[in-house]
Amino acid sequence: MEILETKKEITDRLHTVRLDGSDIGLVPTMGALHNGHASLISRAREENQTVVVSVFVNPTQFNDPQDLLKYPRTPERDIQLLGELQVDFVFIPGEKEMYPEPDERFFDLYPLDAVMEGKYRKNHFNGVAQIVTKLFDTIAPDRAYFGQKDFQQLVIVKRLVQLMGYNISIVACPIIREPDGLAMSSRNIRLSPEERQIAPFISQTLFKANKLKSNYSPSELKQWVIGQFRKRKAFKLEYFEIVDDTELKQVKEWSEHVITVGCIAVHLGKVRLIDNIIFN
Ligand code: PAF
Repeated sequence: MEILETKKEITDRLHTVRLDGSDIGLVPTMGALHNGHASLISRAREENQTVVVSVFVNPTQFNDPQDLLKYPRTPERDIQLLGELQVDFVFIPGEKEMYPEPDERFFDLYPLDAVMEGKYRKNHFNGVAQIVTKLFDTIAPDRAYFGQKDFQQLVIVKRLVQLMGYNISIVACPIIREPDGLAMSSRNIRLSPEERQIAPFISQTLFKANKLKSNYSPSELKQWVIGQFRKRKAFKLEYFEIVDDTELKQVKEWSEHVITVGCIAVHLGKVRLIDNIIFN
């Protein structure tokens, strides 16, 4: 495994790899790796001759400076795990390398970025688009792997690929959960033991909502979920929305022709958690 810190180094190395006819899979990450990332990397390993993992905590996607400061960073553990997963290249640039000057680019992601995460985290998705395009331009992968836990991000990255005309397949990978149902996230390590114990309430509520779906309209089901969180004072529900899987528009009626997703963001103590369920 080679660990590279500059765009020039990785571009040069991948140039040689490409000349050998190898295809390239990219897994973009912000580090603090867990089994959710491991599943993306394993999938990339199966489908590509060369696997690149980027590790970069992207400042432009954080609307809250405190959130950026507190974002978990575990570089040594990450490198060890990436070695075990047989990654070929780790791209781990510093901030000046990715942003030698402020990035003024604006990406028109409307209306996908106006709802849910986009509503509560101003400019978050523009920051995601800035770093993802920089990574795509530098690495030029054939395939890039994104987790369905960040469902809105996944939809927006697909839109970005269309918008920019990239010839890159976006591979969506399922949410990986802890045995008690909590969606794996780098932020989980910031939960206190008490918070960690009750955190599965989020996914349990989503699973129950999926079971109740046939008894309720989407707006009734939304009210039911809101009601569940009102009863549990430790949780502060930010949003729960039932949307379609491409335009992220609120779904008014269930339809077998539309894939419908329930997306949630909840504060538990000082930690903000997101999760979602694809209704069936
Ligand atoms: O999902 C993430 O970890 C980040 O948003 C990404 C895609 C690596 C961009 O910084």
